[in-house]
Amino acid sequence: MSRVAYVNGRYVPRRSAMVHIEDRGYQFADGAYEVCEVFRGALIDEKRHFERLAYSLGELQIVPPLCTGGLAIVVREIMARNKIENGFVYVQVTRGVAPRDHVFPRPAVRPSLVVTARQVNPEKGELQARNGVSVITTPDLRWKRADIKSISLLPNVLARQLARESGAYEAWLVDSSDMITEGAASNAWIVSENDTIVTRHLDHSILRGITRTTLIEIIAAQGLKLVERKFSLDEALTAREAFITGATALIMPVVRINGKKIGQGIPGPITLKLRAIFHDIAARST
Ligand code: PDD
Repeated sequence: MSRVAYVNGRYVPRRSAMVHIEDRGYQFADGAYEVCEVFRGALIDEKRHFERLAYSLGELQIVPPLCTGGLAIVVREIMARNKIENGFVYVQVTRGVAPRDHVFPRPAVRPSLVVTARQVNPEKGELQARNGVSVITTPDLRWKRADIKSISLLPNVLARQLARESGAYEAWLVDSSDMITEGAASNAWIVSENDTIVTRHLDHSILRGITRTTLIEIIAAQGLKLVERKFSLDEALTAREAFITGATALIMPVVRINGKKIGQGIPGPITLKLRAIFHDIAARST
């Protein structure tokens, strides 16, 4: 875990990093966040993460606490102070501290900004990717604005917990028409007939994953076929391959859904190829 955290303008030891009990993030989950991968000392797709943070904050009518350049400096400082070579940077913005009242504080208070970082061993993910992972499915109980990367994650937490208790890596969320929306913390993909790669189209029911956005460009550059559309659990169960994408999972092969083997029950060739080239193509910034 990170040893130094950034909290509202100060770099503090992680152990004593605190926010106020009346922070609206704590009381209402009134805020947004980003998780950005650090790979070999570089941020992956930093610009897109910052753009999505600006989008989430705009939808929530929260004024960004720092300009993009200022946030970029804080993120680098946190990486350096915590000596992060491979891992993640976490950025959270909330509407700020005010006496508990559902409506926005007026006059507006200063939004809270927390930045932390975590080192991970990339070998762990590589090992998981070699074997592939299992997913389970569970009803999508989230609100109707999953396109906002809100810190309000209770349905995601419950879905991930169910996955963990079922021995699975991720939970795929199923809408009321039995269509997969996305994972609890990742986007969901399948490879169907004719090697067509399928992932749900963008609307308010899924997050515009940054890994998803970059992968779509990679798929086009590789001359592979992609269709952005809904797909059902039944279609996923008979797919050739399945995988998930996200800043923490990268491109992770899914070999079982609800205990049923996908394809041969081993990571598929298209998935492995996309995983192998992802970091060569994704934008890196230091
Ligand atoms: N989650 N969908 C959901 C619901 C997510 O929470 C995430 C990421 C994604 C993938 O987005 P991206 O490719 O930008 O990481 C899709 C992060 C990693 C998290 O909550 O920890």
